[in-house]
Amino acid sequence: MTSPDAKLEKGIEDAARIILERNYLVAMVGAGMSVESGIPPFRGSGGLWTKVGEPDNRGYQRFLEDPVAHWRNILNPEDMEGPRAEFRDAIESARPNPGHYSLVELEEMDVLKYIITQNVDGLHLDAGNKRVAEIHGNRNKLRCIGCNARWMRSEWDINVDNLPPRCPECGDLVKGDGVAFGEPIPRDVLNICYRESVACDSMIIIGTSAVVYPAAAFPQEAAMRGATLIEINTDDTPLTRMCELVLRGPSGQILPALAERIRAISEDIGR
Ligand code: APR
Repeated sequence: MTSPDAKLEKGIEDAARIILERNYLVAMVGAGMSVESGIPPFRGSGGLWTKVGEPDNRGYQRFLEDPVAHWRNILNPEDMEGPRAEFRDAIESARPNPGHYSLVELEEMDVLKYIITQNVDGLHLDAGNKRVAEIHGNRNKLRCIGCNARWMRSEWDINVDNLPPRCPECGDLVKGDGVAFGEPIPRDVLNICYRESVACDSMIIIGTSAVVYPAAAFPQEAAMRGATLIEINTDDTPLTRMCELVLRGPSGQILPALAERIRAISEDIGR
């Protein structure tokens, strides 16, 4: 009987070899990646939606109907206590964890070509990754809904006297870059996600429940084109059965071990 640790260790070794036998690794990332940075996930144990329920798909419609009310709630949130307030505090104080830094190492080794992340926490950029598509946006940025111009939130002085903020480029409404429920994914970032899913021949799927689209479609798109899928998750997901390898455990522990094996094997084979 193989012990779970020995099974995981062999899985990490096999994953490192599979990744190095291929040429274009992309990572598809979800909230599980940031759990070890102290940010709760959305679903499953301790999830924000598990606690307060999944939001409806009208968030974007409500923004369009009353952008001033939307911004007033951003500037002075109604719920200063409870799971949403705790989530805001957690994401505000979060820092990259060893899993994030392992993806930086893999990008610097030119093994990891791109990250498609559903996370809005900005931790991949904070850790130092450069090639990152933030499919659900970035909480530290603003975006014009008309021309997709983006700015760092810190560059703007938005207050209740100058709402709603408008784009200096085209005059349309400006909102947080985070994609609201019911909001289309901005075309520029969607095109990158599609391009990278088509280009990859291996994909590590890290910490996502794979139930939100279009993000959950990209691993399936990659697999249909012959890419090898490797899942890193504490639990099964709808994608598990499509994966060549399943590394069951926390990404903050598995990714450093995976990066270490990739580096060691690369040196052995002189890659
Ligand atoms: N390491 C790896 N995986 C983990 C860890 C961990 N330490 N902790 C939890 N997980 C896994 C869970 O098993 C689950 O499969 O991470 C996944 C988290 O799933 P969700 O909370 O649904 O997050 P995600 O898949 O990113 O959600 C997608 O839904 O609400 C929207 O916009 C939100 O981007 C989010 C999208």
